[in-house]
Amino acid sequence: SAPAMGLHLKQKIAKVFEESLRITVPYELDIEPAIAPCQNPDFGDYQCNNAMGLWSKIKGKDTLFESSELIGEAIVKNLPPSAMIESCSVGQNGFVNITLSNKWMAKSIHEMLVHGIKTWAPELPCKRAVVDFSSPNIAKEMHVGHLRSTIIGDTLARMLEYSNVEVLRRNHVGDWGTQFGMLIEFFFEKFPSKDISSDQAIGDLENLTWISPFKAFYKASKLRFDNNPVFKERAQRAVVSLQAGEEKYRKAWAQICEISRRGYEKVYQRLGVHLEERVMLLKFGTRIKLFNHKYAISNDFFLFYPSPLQGESFYNPYIPAVLKLLDEKGLVKESEGACVVPIEGKRIPLIVVKKDGGYNYASTDLAALWYRLNEERAEWIIYVTDVGQREHFEMIFSAAKRAGWLPADRNKYPKASHVGFGLVLGEDGKRFRTRSKAKEWTAEELDGTAEAVSYGAVKYADLKNNRTTNYTFNFDQMLNDKGNTAVYLQYAHARICSIIKRSVKDVDELKKIGPVELAHPDERALGLRLLQFPEIVEEACTKLLPSVICEYLYNLSEDATRLYTNCQVRKRAGSYSARQQGWL
Ligand code: ARG
Repeated sequence: SAPAMGLHLKQKIAKVFEESLRITVPYELDIEPAIAPCQNPDFGDYQCNNAMGLWSKIKGKDTLFESSELIGEAIVKNLPPSAMIESCSVGQNGFVNITLSNKWMAKSIHEMLVHGIKTWAPELPCKRAVVDFSSPNIAKEMHVGHLRSTIIGDTLARMLEYSNVEVLRRNHVGDWGTQFGMLIEFFFEKFPSKDISSDQAIGDLENLTWISPFKAFYKASKLRFDNNPVFKERAQRAVVSLQAGEEKYRKAWAQICEISRRGYEKVYQRLGVHLEERVMLLKFGTRIKLFNHKYAISNDFFLFYPSPLQGESFYNPYIPAVLKLLDEKGLVKESEGACVVPIEGKRIPLIVVKKDGGYNYASTDLAALWYRLNEERAEWIIYVTDVGQREHFEMIFSAAKRAGWLPADRNKYPKASHVGFGLVLGEDGKRFRTRSKAKEWTAEELDGTAEAVSYGAVKYADLKNNRTTNYTFNFDQMLNDKGNTAVYLQYAHARICSIIKRSVKDVDELKKIGPVELAHPDERALGLRLLQFPEIVEEACTKLLPSVICEYLYNLSEDATRLYTNCQVRKRAGSYSARQQGWL
């Protein structure tokens, strides 16, 4: 089997310098080598930046060194022999410029070619993570914010999965709340004669619109609720019946959720996002075993979505026991008839039980966090929503810390992170509305390549930005084949594939090609870029920033484009320039 990668390039360089630093300044304990890629490639590939900091620390104390340059020179002199490093030079202030060995680089790349990209996965200090993303609200509009969450969340999940982290993809759909009374009553009104579970009824509702089957339905029922007091009263009674677990209401609720989910599924399929679902029914009064805690009795009926789709309703039965845990720690206080958890540094406490005794968004999130940490044993829980919810998550995390579920040090595992993103703006600078552009795309337009290009464009345009900023939705810019766009990346990729296709029969033949040589400067630049892939993935995962990977891919595409424009592409039969071959 393929060898695991172990350390990535930067770590490997750091290890060599660590040895040298230990010899150079033996009295400095636990000194971390400061290694970074060279800003200016004329100086080298990487640099070691320790000398200056050391100089200010040991100036006058260690008479062996009279300047930071001398420290830099000593660091180079004390380097252990390494096949990886070709040469080093010491610059001003003792910066050590490092040039990697062409031979070593070529060999590493060849090994990757033979064993596959999986062997380059970085090692992350986390084995299982929850990514909570997409999470639209049933019967309400699935808006562009949910689209952003879907794209960013799916990308983060993929990044972690590549890095051998087991990812539990959680669609925290809003499938619970008082709006269901109104929807259920309207549902009964609209389909009086039909069996609500019939495919016909579902079909009728599904046909309303593909992106949000319930948008029109929600609006209509809200209108009725606001204008008809008799209906309003019935709707309010329906909530009570639903929460009491009455069969008829429970069934209608499940049906409404099901129709919405089918709508979401279409969106996920189009985007190539996986959030499949399995549904299991649990009856009213079922005993559920809780981790390191007694038992909970479900006081609501509920649907059970074991994996991977677990909406808000899934956590209902856990809420009382989880709130009890917080109460036992003395964290829950009474305030104006509600139960709250005061949060240090916040003026407003976290409300966990409303005045009317009902639970809310926060109680559900506390139960979900507890469940994910204790039942699912996730070490990293990542929430992808717009930045507007930052405060909410800060309060949840802070309560969890006080309860002792999370360590006080936010860099320690288990860890909870809120991944916030900005708004999507239209070209008019206002909030982007899907409606304004949707008309321009007909079903026929969206086939084959057009689909790959357009979905790629939309995803990439979102991901390449630092996610916390707002971004303007502009198709012309997204589809520009010269700028930093998905189209440019796909174009570079297609050209490389075409070269490979014309050079070799299949991947096995490609693997036999070798040894790899990095003779031309453009080849070497591309080689170095490839070798940096693992450390880039690690950085992107650690910071939860897909834009780090986008920037890398853009640079990689530029390197590849430069290479096939300037260099001859070697063929076994002889050397031809790619242009001569008519490949380009
Ligand atoms: N349904 C929420 C919304 O549309 C997002 C849920 C995010 N996840 C969570 N665990 N709170 O705003």
